[in-house]
Amino acid sequence: MQRIFSGVQPTGNLHLGNYLGAIRNWVHLQHDYECIFCMVDMHAITLWQDPKDLLHNTREVAAGMIAAGIDAEKQILFNQSMVPAHAQLAWVFNCVARIGWLNRMTQFKDKAGKHKENASVGLYAYPNLMSADILIYKATHVPVGEDQKQHLELARDTAQKFNSDYGVDFFPLPEPLIFGAARRVMSFRDGTKKMSKSDESDYSRINMTDDADTIALKIRKAKTDPLPLPETIEGLTERPEADNLVGIFAALSDLEKAAVLERFAGKPFSEFKQDLTDLAVSVLGPINSEMKRLMADPSHIDAVLHRGAERANAIAEPILKDVYDIVGFLRP
Ligand code: TYM
Repeated sequence: MQRIFSGVQPTGNLHLGNYLGAIRNWVHLQHDYECIFCMVDMHAITLWQDPKDLLHNTREVAAGMIAAGIDAEKQILFNQSMVPAHAQLAWVFNCVARIGWLNRMTQFKDKAGKHKENASVGLYAYPNLMSADILIYKATHVPVGEDQKQHLELARDTAQKFNSDYGVDFFPLPEPLIFGAARRVMSFRDGTKKMSKSDESDYSRINMTDDADTIALKIRKAKTDPLPLPETIEGLTERPEADNLVGIFAALSDLEKAAVLERFAGKPFSEFKQDLTDLAVSVLGPINSEMKRLMADPSHIDAVLHRGAERANAIAEPILKDVYDIVGFLRP
């Protein structure tokens, strides 16, 4: 069976972008693939995290995945720092990937801001750890939102360079899986900006922890334009806010955007937003209550992550040993 790896940073609330761009797709894919899903806590600390928050968020993101429908009995769910082979392979990749490749990463440029010299070394080397996350399991497929595409291209380049530097056919070239009607969910305040945990305005996103009233309020306040909904996809061109809300509706109901427009063409946004609210609450409400239930006693989540890490280690350790042999490290 082909193997999937994907990860989420436990750096704050899970939001609708994480859910529609990634987790909802993972729930669909888990029937056809062997899956490994990871709370990437080592990636999280590339920007400083309050230790208490990091611990809480690691559990809460895991709770969100289980509540959304990831089968933690069947699939592997764990936090990255429990499997040392990620960091060990990342070091080898630090010596394979080229500085020029990392210099092109747009996420580093966005996150480091104007004063790049003040960014952590970890933030710069972040993509190499991400390549290691995937390749330490020889994963063949990586379902992510569109924003991670460039990192995945780097992972493929790194796998290929390792294979050619050492004259082996060892690592597969992992394929990104980017699909669905909401590959890049945009901010509710500005349809040209990605919905993100780091946006200062809480009204820019729906958090997976938001209750029904908050979801309704945020959708009501979401920026739109004065025109009614168009009849065709072409009618959404240069209407980023409208396009975003239609995409969200489509993804939440597993439809194409065209099917949503067929239903709402010519209707005003006030009416569409009411239906979107009902849909969002009906999908997110049960996930939210299950997350709360799981977080009330995190011992179950801790046990899931611990068991997941044991299973992950069992796959990763032999692959790391092979890498060390290929590289020429003396081992006991
Ligand atoms: P992170 O934690 O930022 O996001 C987790 C997943 O959610 C997707 N996503 C979005 N999708 C659509 N619209 C949005 N607005 C949106 N915001 C986030 C992301 O694409 C991602 O799939 N570097 C990764 C974590 C990572 C990883 C990995 C992923 C570390 N190692 C190995 C895959 C494989 C990140 O920061 O995701």
